[in-house]
Amino acid sequence: MLYIGDANISDLQRYSRIARYWGRKVYEATEIIFSEIVRDVKEKIVLDPFGGAGCIILEALRRGARGIYIDINPYAYLIARVTTEWFNTEKLLRKAEVVFSRKRLAYRGSNGSIKYIERDKLYTITVNGVRKKVKYYEWRDDECWAVTIDGKKVRASDFTGGEPYYSPPYYMFWYPWGEPFDKKRNYDWLHEFFTNRNLIILTNIWQDIRPLKTVSRKDTREHRAMALAFLSILYMASKMARPRAGSWGVNSYWVPRLHVEYNPYDLLRRRLNKLLRLRPTLPHPVKTTGSIYGLSKVLRGYLDVAILHGDSKEILKYIPPGSIDYIVTDPPHTDEIQYLELSFFMNAWLKADPYSWMLGEVVVNRRQRKDFNSYIEMLVSTYKLAYDVLKPHGKMLLIYHEENQQKLEEMKRAVEKAGFSLEEEVKGLMKYQRNIGYRNIARGRQFRILVCSKKFKSSR
Ligand SMILES: C[S@@+](CC[C@H](N)C(=O)[O-])C[C@H]1O[C@@H](n2cnc3c(N)ncnc32)[C@H](O)[C@@H]1O
Repeated sequence: MLYIGDANISDLQRYSRIARYWGRKVYEATEIIFSEIVRDVKEKIVLDPFGGAGCIILEALRRGARGIYIDINPYAYLIARVTTEWFNTEKLLRKAEVVFSRKRLAYRGSNGSIKYIERDKLYTITVNGVRKKVKYYEWRDDECWAVTIDGKKVRASDFTGGEPYYSPPYYMFWYPWGEPFDKKRNYDWLHEFFTNRNLIILTNIWQDIRPLKTVSRKDTREHRAMALAFLSILYMASKMARPRAGSWGVNSYWVPRLHVEYNPYDLLRRRLNKLLRLRPTLPHPVKTTGSIYGLSKVLRGYLDVAILHGDSKEILKYIPPGSIDYIVTDPPHTDEIQYLELSFFMNAWLKADPYSWMLGEVVVNRRQRKDFNSYIEMLVSTYKLAYDVLKPHGKMLLIYHEENQQKLEEMKRAVEKAGFSLEEEVKGLMKYQRNIGYRNIARGRQFRILVCSKKFKSSR
């Protein structure tokens, strides 16, 4: 039994401060998986087809392997890409300067024309004839108070002088086939989760960062880092932010009666400072590609890592058969976390049809019309492709957290259906686990690592 407690908390965990990703539990487990089970990966090729925030590939790279990361979620891809390839501090500071140098914010006046307002005006208020800086606004239902930096609390309101000039993402928390998101609670539209004031600020900032193409040769590392910093503050800049609470704890799109409104510029500055204070994740720079056309260069050793955004069921077809030494992955766990529904809040800012990615997601979600059986079928299809790309003596390691015995058995059968033989099952317990999903995790979290091999041919 592997026990993951305080002593084993990986260095990599610090990087979760850059941007939160749901259920990034394997930070704690990854290091130990490589040191206790996989062991030597130097010069080997490691693939993670459900890469999430990228910690498995990062650990593989730290140990001298080359890597291929895939995830269908653009937000996860961005986190993985930024944490892997890092950025040039000077260049990032220059990018940040462009954003923070804007003094006047554009908005649309009532006759539709472009108007400008002093940036600071939206977060200042007059108290007894004196202008004071607002630390945050506090909301109870539709009533608003400004809390000034010297602790005064005065009645205030949203900005009513006009609307965002640069268009925010106008998307609904509804699937195109007429079902609401499973995680939708009180509002239907994404822009309703922001006050008019913050939407004007956010759209101006996004305009200065320049909307990002998910995979584009024109995007630089610093551009991606800026975009990630922006996307990662959206929750705290929204009406979902609760007083004295940090990251997204509720796990659904829910605006509490009492919520607070923070200045996006302050949030962004703090996030960038955090990012700039961190040392790069890897001790040496790595040569990265974000394109499937770069895959062969990784396999031949000209590049270190491919960080790819897309559906594994498609991308794995581009990897030549028998070319991967290890597949180490933490597949999505049934309906526990709705990765794409929850990341929609960020992905929608990337525009480019954020619903389409949901079709290929491996998940149990009744609104997406995916039940446990279709989830298993999707896993089997992915594992079959994984089987093909693995070298004859290669191994696939799966991290499973399922505590329901029947479901776990089905998930194990999925591996065998794809042709693998189950060589070993290592049980583990993680002491620390964020409270995600619906489980009581006070006693720690059990997990298993299934070590699968393709040594013994079975009929598929
Ligand atoms: C359990 S998480 C991985 C977490 C990751 N190990 C980490 O530490 O962040 C599973 C991931 O699978 C991704 N996923 C789901 N369906 C996918 C698909 N068809 N292709 C690629 N990735 C997919 C989800 O977006 C999610 O990030």
